[in-house]
Amino acid sequence: MAMIALKCPEIQVVVVDINEARIAAWNSDKLPIYEPGLDEVVKAARGRNLFFSTDVTKHVGEADIVFVSVNTPTKTQGVGAGKAADLTYWEGAARVIASCSTSSKIIVEKSTVPVKTADAIEKVLRRNCKHPGVQFEILSNPEFLAEGTAIEDLTAPDRVLIGGKDTPSGRAAVDALASVYAHWVPRERILCTNLWSAELSKLTANAMLAQRISSVNSISALCEATGADVQQVAKSIGTDSRIGPKFLNASVGFGGSCFQKDILNLVYICESVGLQAVADYWHQVILMNDYQKQRFVEQVISAMFNTISKKKIAVYGFAFKKDTGDTRETPAIDVCRGLMADGARVCVYDPQVEDSQIYQDLGTAKFEWDHPTPKSAPVSKDAISISHDPMEAAKDAHAICVLTEWDEFKAYDYQKVYDSMVKPAFIFDGRNILDHAKLREIGFIVYAVGKPLDPFLQKVY
Ligand code: UDX
Repeated sequence: MAMIALKCPEIQVVVVDINEARIAAWNSDKLPIYEPGLDEVVKAARGRNLFFSTDVTKHVGEADIVFVSVNTPTKTQGVGAGKAADLTYWEGAARVIASCSTSSKIIVEKSTVPVKTADAIEKVLRRNCKHPGVQFEILSNPEFLAEGTAIEDLTAPDRVLIGGKDTPSGRAAVDALASVYAHWVPRERILCTNLWSAELSKLTANAMLAQRISSVNSISALCEATGADVQQVAKSIGTDSRIGPKFLNASVGFGGSCFQKDILNLVYICESVGLQAVADYWHQVILMNDYQKQRFVEQVISAMFNTISKKKIAVYGFAFKKDTGDTRETPAIDVCRGLMADGARVCVYDPQVEDSQIYQDLGTAKFEWDHPTPKSAPVSKDAISISHDPMEAAKDAHAICVLTEWDEFKAYDYQKVYDSMVKPAFIFDGRNILDHAKLREIGFIVYAVGKPLDPFLQKVY
């Protein structure tokens, strides 16, 4: 919304939320999320044509276009628990819109939703609006930005996707939204489809992206077993223009708020319409991701003589990727839990993630984090500690696990790090970002995902 406000000075944008603290933060100097470049965009438009308010009724009532970006978490109970999207907040938003609308509106689905959600929402809107003559036209306009590069992605998107009904009023609504984006996005990059294609494209895009990572991660296991190098394999296949070079970095596993949730949702939809073979196909992407995280933990344990009990292990990076403080579904949660389950003393260092977030993540059940008041159990402070200094985190540690690809990890003085650690000193590079030859020269025993195994590690197996 900040980008729309920046690019379209004549359009008044008001972001509303019932959470007062969150709106206050958006109105303050310290925005509630860390995203490179976002501060500048918000500050350029805020107070001019970008406003943040808790007065939902007033601003929704006055709007011509309403973007709905509420959470659609994975259901934790009831039918479809663990897979289906929970549309409680969407339905709630639709009821609010219906009750305060005195004029016709275009309602834009911005949250990722299951296919056919627009149908359900339309019914709620129609049946709850008391004002005669008010019409709602529903559009699907999924967001493809990635965290950490959100501003770049919004400034020059590969495409903007708008789905609407193939009726005169549907086409007029699509045109109205397209003309907003046309302020800065070339027309040929604004794709218009039917509603269901747009809704399904979002789930499919995320499923295909995640599938690439699971595919390359599955090959990383084979590389380690055979002496091949996954980075060489990725480069070799990525030069085929049909495959392309992006999103082929083997890792400890993918995280983030979208991939797992959207695939589970896709799986659930396939099962609901009786397509079990299709559901199983996509579910395998998640199972391979879980396998990769588990495999990483097992590598750590077996390399360290099958016991990590009471050993200090430094974890470099807790965010699900670099340049964000976001930890949703980060592989670090499963890896830290796996290490703690085997008795390790884990010390986490991350340049952005708040301490309280780490404690909450490690004490919260799967999928609970996406609900407004996650139930979390306290984690033992013996098992987990947090350091704000990477050198201190590594001091007296037996091993370092690199779980996020923060650039600063590449620039450390690893001789100094090595000198402060217990020997033999191990580094497990879950992101393949460090200079492994140099680390070996210093004396480290190095494991890197999908790379030929260190002779020391080979002897162990
Ligand atoms: C993703 C989609 O990219 C975006 O289009 C959609 O709108 C939201 O979901 P995001 O979750 O922000 O964006 O991050 P992304 O860059 O896609 O990375 C997801 C995860 O995959 C991260 O944990 C990342 O580290 C991992 N990843 C990515 C790999 O392990 N290897 C890769 O080659 C690429």
